[in-house]
Amino acid sequence: MRDSKAVPAGKATLEYKGKSYDLPVFNGSVGPEVVDIRNLYGEAGVFTYDPGFTSTGSCESDITYIDGDKGILLYRGYSIDQLAAKSSFLEVCYLLLYGELPSKEQMEKFTFTITHHTMVHEQLASFYRGFRRDAHPMAVMCGVVGALSAFYHDSLDINDPRQRELACVRLVAKIPTIAAMAFRYSTGHPFVYPQNKLGYTENFLRMCFSVPAEDYVVNPVLARALDTIFILHADHEQNASTSTVRLAGSSGSNPFACVAAGIACLWGPAHGGANEAALKMLETIGTVERIPEFIRRAKDKNDPFRLMGFGHRVYKNYDPRAKAMQIQCHAVLDELGLHDDPLLKVALELERIALQDEYFIEKKLYPNIDFYSGITLKALGFPTAMFTALFALARTVGWIGQWKEMLEDPHQKIGRPRQLYTGAKQRDYVPFDQR
Ligand code: SDX
Repeated sequence: MRDSKAVPAGKATLEYKGKSYDLPVFNGSVGPEVVDIRNLYGEAGVFTYDPGFTSTGSCESDITYIDGDKGILLYRGYSIDQLAAKSSFLEVCYLLLYGELPSKEQMEKFTFTITHHTMVHEQLASFYRGFRRDAHPMAVMCGVVGALSAFYHDSLDINDPRQRELACVRLVAKIPTIAAMAFRYSTGHPFVYPQNKLGYTENFLRMCFSVPAEDYVVNPVLARALDTIFILHADHEQNASTSTVRLAGSSGSNPFACVAAGIACLWGPAHGGANEAALKMLETIGTVERIPEFIRRAKDKNDPFRLMGFGHRVYKNYDPRAKAMQIQCHAVLDELGLHDDPLLKVALELERIALQDEYFIEKKLYPNIDFYSGITLKALGFPTAMFTALFALARTVGWIGQWKEMLEDPHQKIGRPRQLYTGAKQRDYVPFDQR
């Protein structure tokens, strides 16, 4: 179990209707202090109000730290640019789940364990066949991941640490197989079983792109690029989908149902669905000449159009992942001889213009992780509809790591926000003949 590491840091005082209320303040290891309002309603009979949670800390966590003004992202204290350059996705999974970089022996054991959980129950393949071939892969992922709770009954008891651990391992191990099967089902290709001699991301590429009629050789440059892309997407503090997983988990739901809820939330175009939307936007813009028209629309309050892949709730500086994503984008396009990709030209010019535009500067709108990922994933051979499924594949470790941390917190309780009610006051029922 995990004890709180919050450090008392004095108090804040709220003056309300002639009375003063002392609210404890706590400090973390880095980042803004927090004002603890847990007892406010009980003492003052008033709620705080923060739609969208722009100023609300929902939990204490050791996993990921973001400094939006400085463009800093740390996984367990290690910066995203160092991990992207020096680590592997599976090592980052270990780090996110257990808090420390693994020793050689720990990494070998973890790799063996994950590798030997990559297959899924054979009945699950039949589950796919209930979907239309043109179902969106995220619809399939929601359904299939939720259905894991119908298959793996020995990892549903959230009060049993061993079962929690097994659920974490199963989700990290099986999510590439599930995502690859969703892709194969959409193209009409046969499912491909994992191969234990391959690494995590190599295995995924083979399950996606090999055909039974011939051998498949993984391109190491592309595998490394995708592995790095997974690192960049692995976790991101209390974003919408992670908060969804935590809220679902707080009621005691099983881990597979919680991750299915996270997948559903990630699907939205304002969140993980932005990578699919960003590529579609670049394709709609089509040429560098049409960029000013779309910049104008993005600035027009009466036009719902937004520059997908731009802006972020936390980053009011450049998203550090976007820089690393751009590096992987160039690596993949160069390896495939696509450096003249017209979409990349539009993306680079759109970024250049937007970063000089007063509106984007004033609103601190910078490219986020989704801006370059679409171009890269398309070049790797994935259809646009698979982009968010790839985001979900990588974020599964972050979701389940945050779920695990929440359940190890002895003070955790069911999440249940309140509201500002502005509806009708109590009134009596009116029979039809008197309306
Ligand atoms: C992800 O939270 C996370 O960590 C998420 C994520 C993760 O790893 O989990 O980082 C992944 O979801 C990245 C974000 C992907 N989404 C997009 O790229 C969609 C486009 N971006 C926007 O929808 C928006 O920027 C959000 C949703 C990302 C952030 O929304 P906020 O913080 O609520 O900000 P906002 O929508 O209120 O925008 C602030 C202002 C607004 O103008 P005003 O109403 O204040 O006048 O900026 C404008 C917006 O109109 N604005 C944009 C814009 N994004 C915001 N204008 C044009 N184009 C945009 N992209």
